[in-house]
Amino acid sequence: MRLLHRTAMTCASALALAGCATMSAAPVQDAVTSSSPTTVPIESAQPAWASRDAERERFVDALIAKMTLEEKVGQLTLLTSDWESTGPTMREGYQQDIAAGRVGSIFNAYTAGYTRELQEMAVESTRLKIPLLFGYDVIHGHRTIFPISLGEAASWDMEAIEKSARVSAQEASAEGIHWTFSPMVDVSRDARWGRISEGAGEDVFLGSKVARARVRGYQGDDLGAVDTVLATAKHFAAYGAAQAGRDYHTVDISERTLRDTYLPPFKAAVDEGVATFMTSFNEYDGVPASGSKFLLTDVLRDEWGFDGFVVTDYTSINEMVPHGYARDLAQAGEQALNAGVDIDMQGAVFMENMVKSVEEGRVSPTSIDRAVRRVLEMKYSLGLFEDPYRYADEVRQEATLYRPEFLEAARDVARKSMVLLKNDADILPLAASANHIALIGPLADSKADMIGSWSAAGDRQTRPVTILEGMRARAGDGVTVEYAKGASYEFADEGKTDGFVEALALAEKSDVIVAAMGEKWDMTGEAASRTSLDLPGNQQVLLEQLVATGKPVVLVMLSGRPNSITWADENVDAILHAWYPGTQGGLAVADVLFGDYNPSGKLPVTFPRNIGQVPIHYDMKNTGRPIELGEPGAKYVSRYLNTPNDPLYRFGYGLSYTKFAYSPATLSAAGMGAGGSIIASATVTNTGDRAGEEVVQLYVRDLVGSVTRPVQELEGFEKIMLQPGESRTVTFTLTPEDLAFTRADMSYGWEPGNFQLWIAPSSGAKVTTPVSFFLTE
Ligand code: NOJ
Repeated sequence: MRLLHRTAMTCASALALAGCATMSAAPVQDAVTSSSPTTVPIESAQPAWASRDAERERFVDALIAKMTLEEKVGQLTLLTSDWESTGPTMREGYQQDIAAGRVGSIFNAYTAGYTRELQEMAVESTRLKIPLLFGYDVIHGHRTIFPISLGEAASWDMEAIEKSARVSAQEASAEGIHWTFSPMVDVSRDARWGRISEGAGEDVFLGSKVARARVRGYQGDDLGAVDTVLATAKHFAAYGAAQAGRDYHTVDISERTLRDTYLPPFKAAVDEGVATFMTSFNEYDGVPASGSKFLLTDVLRDEWGFDGFVVTDYTSINEMVPHGYARDLAQAGEQALNAGVDIDMQGAVFMENMVKSVEEGRVSPTSIDRAVRRVLEMKYSLGLFEDPYRYADEVRQEATLYRPEFLEAARDVARKSMVLLKNDADILPLAASANHIALIGPLADSKADMIGSWSAAGDRQTRPVTILEGMRARAGDGVTVEYAKGASYEFADEGKTDGFVEALALAEKSDVIVAAMGEKWDMTGEAASRTSLDLPGNQQVLLEQLVATGKPVVLVMLSGRPNSITWADENVDAILHAWYPGTQGGLAVADVLFGDYNPSGKLPVTFPRNIGQVPIHYDMKNTGRPIELGEPGAKYVSRYLNTPNDPLYRFGYGLSYTKFAYSPATLSAAGMGAGGSIIASATVTNTGDRAGEEVVQLYVRDLVGSVTRPVQELEGFEKIMLQPGESRTVTFTLTPEDLAFTRADMSYGWEPGNFQLWIAPSSGAKVTTPVSFFLTE
């Protein structure tokens, strides 16, 4: 890769055509002046342009006035570099496109050196010298990789999640990235769907909190600071509702479900100030999302007032043709632009067709200008017109990547994300007397798997600490951790037994077996749907043989989805779900197994007993024939013949090495009306002998509505730390607005009526009797 020197950008050289008066009228840009040859301080002061809306408008107006239609369309085009492939097509010659002004943004290109090189092509070779915007999928870390997003959500720790996004932004921006295609805020209730790993799980309330935390972490308080990046709320909308969990499949849900289940995390992202949105691949109500005026204009712009820009997902405009919505690419481009898309990702549809569409009157020049304005405004807010190279700084890059405190943060979030699903006879933490530990399984010593999918520039070969390495680093003198891979997770290896003999021999001579099993890293993520949730390959058979040795077995699961581990639940002694825990994952697993960290994660998604229960989530409807209405085994109730209705593990569930007791909940009043509020409280006591954290959860049921309501909905949570014997009263304030939903007439609001409320350690855990309250007009 060629490293280029920073080129000073002066008014004359860079923006002569955009109106120098505007530039020179700006206050001096202190530490980030265009010609500054040195590192920009990471904690830079609030730059002047952040509050210069009027100047930004003048600047952008002047620039647009000088642009040709071709140049405008260039700003609406995003192409991938050839560094990485995150989709099905690759356009040859993206560098020539940059130099010719046919592209306004590039993704899958990073490092200070390479982004500078590409930026120089745009700034030096094009007529208007408009800088490029660099985007990238920085999803759960950039170089230092944190747990996968679903794992982070299991921490229920918004500070930790914000910190992860903050570190991601610091590392990514130090490598020239301005814009991350994250957070993915798709609610998903279908474990078959591979992308369930990328979101925050099944819940609207938790998902909205996580969305906000991530946006805050990426964007900070100031888009103009060099260590923040633009965030993207994706994939808009309802991508998680793909039929049968098959990726890219049709979505067919009611508008009420769309609004009450799938849209709230997107709205939360808007409320947090997210800069950009990405469309989804799926259709909604018969219209592909990238051509949906309803989603992109009526809801996003008109109802929510979003004023950033909208990018499509990868070639999703082109895909409107096979969807059967557009007869050709030109029409697809027109439909997308007219619906509210601003930037075409990788499809080159705008690039190749839009000039003609405008000239022939099928797209108005005003619509083009509006989209261009949104893109240029963002570039301005990032300070790129002041200094196109301000993010491409080798010195900062060198000083930023893999900082020790970033690695420590990754380890901390990883252990917070882990969920203890079973712990019979307190087999965990591992006893000091467990001198011979047999660590067995395909995920025990596999660096590639530790960081999961969508791991940006994360190193999969050398940096990740495996479970074996983490356990050996922690095991004290006299404790041996011996390893045998034993089994394989590859689908093709089902039925094979190579490796079993070695693993069983090791198991026989051990005090305890730790089985590290689950899915290969790329069995979740995009285009990774499954029709089975079982352990892939021959792992299940080996697990059964390990249990048959009679030795205690701890199962450590690495996976990006809820697996059906019903057999394991019934037969092993302990289960720790560790997701894909990231660069420091092995150390974090060891922290939990040896008891240096007391697990505190709770499931952000329901774990089914078997795939037949899917889709399953905690906030289902009661139905007219709920199972509780019948005698056990009654026929005409809503149930299965062969499986209970209850899942294996409920949403919100997770154990600790200590125990917590909940007092009955109390309310500050019997009811509330408009403008009122009610305070619900419960006292939680640590009744065990170790300090521990508990996620205290508030659930509400609206008993009767103008449309049927879920059996419970999460309305609050708080993660608290309690010392042994310590009690804390946790309070939640509810207002009528918290109980709003899409009513029968499609208006959004609350309704008078009766409600029940639980304060509990998980959904469905009715550890105390629910308390009732009412809402009046
Ligand atoms: C397709 C994915 O759906 C999206 O999430 C990602 O941001 C883009 N590819 C770019 O890599």
